[in-house]
Amino acid sequence: MNAPSSYHQILITEHGDADALQWVESAPLPVPGPGEVRVRVVAASASFTDIMVRKGIYSGVDAELPYPPGYDMVGVVDALGPGVTGIKPGQRVADLTVWGAYTEYMLRPAEALVPVPDGLAADDAVVLVLSYLTAYQMLFRTADVKPEQVVLIHGASGAVGTALAQLGRVAGLKMYGTASTGKQDYVRALGVAPIDYQTEDFTARIMEQTDGAGVNVVFDAVGVDNFKRSYNVLAPGGVLVTYGLYKASLSEDSRIGVAWPFVKMLWQMKWWDWFPEDDKRVTFYSIQSQREAEPDWFRDDLAALFELALEGNLDPQIWKRLPLRDAAEAHRLIESGAVRGKIVLEVSPDPVN
Ligand SMILES: NC(=O)c1ccc[n+]([C@@H]2O[C@H](COP(=O)([O-])OP(=O)(O)OC[C@H]3O[C@@H](n4cnc5c(N)ncnc54)[C@H](OP(=O)(O)O)[C@@H]3O)[C@@H](O)[C@H]2O)c1
Repeated sequence: MNAPSSYHQILITEHGDADALQWVESAPLPVPGPGEVRVRVVAASASFTDIMVRKGIYSGVDAELPYPPGYDMVGVVDALGPGVTGIKPGQRVADLTVWGAYTEYMLRPAEALVPVPDGLAADDAVVLVLSYLTAYQMLFRTADVKPEQVVLIHGASGAVGTALAQLGRVAGLKMYGTASTGKQDYVRALGVAPIDYQTEDFTARIMEQTDGAGVNVVFDAVGVDNFKRSYNVLAPGGVLVTYGLYKASLSEDSRIGVAWPFVKMLWQMKWWDWFPEDDKRVTFYSIQSQREAEPDWFRDDLAALFELALEGNLDPQIWKRLPLRDAAEAHRLIESGAVRGKIVLEVSPDPVN
């Protein structure tokens, strides 16, 4: 495919609601510098974290407005900058971009790209990048789960929750998961015993179901009050893996608004560090920090996920596919709580399909 003279992208014009996302035409195409690759994006995922970026409450973005959101993408290498070796035009690649993937063309450092194997569709592959990699690393790097262990997954119907459930099944875990009333069947179908957090007290249910023993690991991105209850249902020596402040991020529209829940979380975690009960441990996982600290794990773990999907051991859950142009609609659906699994934004044709 010859490169066009202009391209489209979705820009955040100001931090705010989904109306702040605008479909624009830009020219000329970006030209890769030394060590860079230009990628024609095939698929990007729409994620809750993109909504935090759009609202301006996500701290990991180093761009000035206007810029495109887009935490991950799969695309085709389109042009190479000077000095790039080991990668060919036409090759399919994936990356965790953090921002910038809601575009038809983008530049990436060549060393950041992970090859996508033939046989794996781009839309399936992109679902594995942010959500499944987060789940994979929390399970196998942070909590170091073992077969037969008992875990509690909060938000089990969400993008990360679905990934935790599918990977937990592969790992031979016994799983409980919280979800709202309308998503109980979805969670059950993932092999997780559902708990309706809207009508039941999950702490009572877990203690009753485990004969008072509690669980080995809890994965919780809901919020600080939930973290305290999650800590209480841990068995001695158990691990609470926190990885977000979903409730505060959904309701607050400014960094100042999320600052207090964040400080509360840090204090609560410090407290548990100083005064642990029954050797329980609490830890915060961040995919961005983890990649910076251990770039090889990022490559190895994403390659392992691609392999698991190729073998048929994972079934990336795509709830809806939308054209990139409809990114604002994708954001509204995620914020409404309608989604089970993931929304994929289709950007350009996938050469393997
Ligand atoms: N630290 C990291 O590296 C990292 C990486 C990825 C994501 N995250 C964070 O993880 C969180 C989830 O992301 P996601 O992409 O999975 O979002 P998502 O697809 O929108 O899912 C969020 C889930 O939270 C559930 N939920 C809401 N209130 C709940 C409650 N009180 N108790 C239990 N579950 C509740 C929702 O379930 P119902 O609809 O059934 O209410 C929904 O399934 C976000 O805060 C995100 O920022 C962090």
